[in-house]
Amino acid sequence: MTRRPLPSFWVVIPAAGVGSRMRADRPKQYLQLGGRSIIEHTLDCFLDHPTLAGVTVCIAPNDPYWPNLPCAGDPRVQRAPGGRERCDSVLNGLRRLSELGANGHDWVLVHDAARPNLAREDLDRLLLELADDSVGGLLAVPARDTLKRVGLDGRVVETVDRSVIWQAFTPQMFRLGMLRDALVGALDAAVRVTDEASALEWAGHAPKVVEGRADNLKVTRPEDLDWLEQRWGGGRVE
Ligand code: C5P
Repeated sequence: MTRRPLPSFWVVIPAAGVGSRMRADRPKQYLQLGGRSIIEHTLDCFLDHPTLAGVTVCIAPNDPYWPNLPCAGDPRVQRAPGGRERCDSVLNGLRRLSELGANGHDWVLVHDAARPNLAREDLDRLLLELADDSVGGLLAVPARDTLKRVGLDGRVVETVDRSVIWQAFTPQMFRLGMLRDALVGALDAAVRVTDEASALEWAGHAPKVVEGRADNLKVTRPEDLDWLEQRWGGGRVE
């Protein structure tokens, strides 16, 4: 079977968060997994991809860890300043990509720094399924557990229909210009966006979900790192 060529793409990795839920002595992307930092594994998901144009990593100005990593000197990986919120960091990353020669029509994939287990098959499926899409979209996973809406008193208010609920993962893939305009618009309107798709939704677009693997997890709590560490065994979980 002949497969269509994958589109060229840029990557923005926002990595300026603190990750307080990990209760660690450093931001979670610098914790060790299989002898290297999480962010190095995350970058590995993209760096040898044949259609990658370049990567920017958004790093907090006073971050003492990033400059000591070997990848900080990799010419394919350019640094952008981190911002106050994730969306500020991503906007800085997009500006850096424009300086590097990206144009408004180019595809950009935004991927969490602490999501090191992205499978190549998921990345390629996202690129392939969205290559001709007018909006773009994201990797996502259908909700598997029964979902409850819970009140402030800790009691169930109702059971939510899970068949229409998906968990939003990354990468999230949009055209540079469209994503920038949506993020700027949402920020100007003081709308709180927690991922790139929310900004596009706010701007009136409908991003497409592409089903991915559930083990593309974002390290958020200590048990997530334990889970990955136990299964890592020298490479991505298969
Ligand atoms: O906190 P959370 O895991 O949701 O953050 C998602 C991603 O956004 C992380 O990679 C984090 O480093 C990044 N981030 C950022 N700038 C901020 C806040 C979060 O780059 N101001």
